[in-house]
Amino acid sequence: MPRIAYVNGRYVNHLDAAVHIEDRGFQFADSIYEVVALIDGRFADEVGHLDRLERSLKELQIPMPVSRRSLKMIMAELARRNRARNGGIYMQVTRGVATRDFKFPKDIAPTLVMTIYPANFDVAARKAKATKAVTVPDIRWKRRDIKTTALVAQVLAKQAAAEQGAYEAWMVDEKGFVTEGSSSNAWIIDKKNNLITRPTAQNSILKGVTRNALQVLCKAEKIKIVERAFTVKEALQAKEAFTSSAVALIVPVVNIDGKKIGDGKPGGITCKLMDIYMDYAVDANRKHETWTPK
Ligand code: PDD
Repeated sequence: MPRIAYVNGRYVNHLDAAVHIEDRGFQFADSIYEVVALIDGRFADEVGHLDRLERSLKELQIPMPVSRRSLKMIMAELARRNRARNGGIYMQVTRGVATRDFKFPKDIAPTLVMTIYPANFDVAARKAKATKAVTVPDIRWKRRDIKTTALVAQVLAKQAAAEQGAYEAWMVDEKGFVTEGSSSNAWIIDKKNNLITRPTAQNSILKGVTRNALQVLCKAEKIKIVERAFTVKEALQAKEAFTSSAVALIVPVVNIDGKKIGDGKPGGITCKLMDIYMDYAVDANRKHETWTPK
């Protein structure tokens, strides 16, 4: 894949792609982002990701940097220039560049950058992977519904996971309930085959676009989802566990804090969900978008 990035109206060589040192994204994490999977030439859940981008901007009172139509065109053009049919699109919008001052500066234009990176969506290979998670305290701020780039708590969480040979860190609130993964939503499946995932109420987690799609797809498949918080203890006793997020999609979790989940292999329901989500993502004729904006 050639490496072309988009920076404020220009397509540039990835090595030369840069923003100013007084960009507020850099200084304050006064910025938001989205990650969208490009699967077989289609942007998975594009509507949901763009809706959430608009919402995050609104919550931070940052104007849209370009129209929604232009955003879609930039995404497509970036994929074209990088000759990509599969990959992950990363887009970030900051409040813009100004001399350092905490309050909103007047008359500045938002910064928009976009990159694309390679990704492989081979479901069979993904199913063969045994993925571990660890639990860590959730030390983040209270507006987890906004997809900001203030991710240092997640950086620490992911590093703690990596140091223990795990892929993901499940963050745990002060009452012992799992909130979500450091870059994904967390799910368990109980002995009755119910899918359990934390509700998005009280802004305690990000409203995942993949999570949302799974809710709609499961309804059609008559797979029951129970939206409630679950404890680490429950997760350890679950039949199956997995995470959901853009690009990683659905990742079976077979071990938490060094303890096997179920028989220690990706579970049957999780694997079925991986197939269902992939069929949905690549279906050019699909009749419905699964995103329900709020
Ligand atoms: N992360 N929760 C958190 C904290 C996340 O960072 C993400 C996604 C999700 C899943 O949301 P979605 O299904 O819309 O991707 C949940 C992205 C992929 C990232 O930071 O790279």
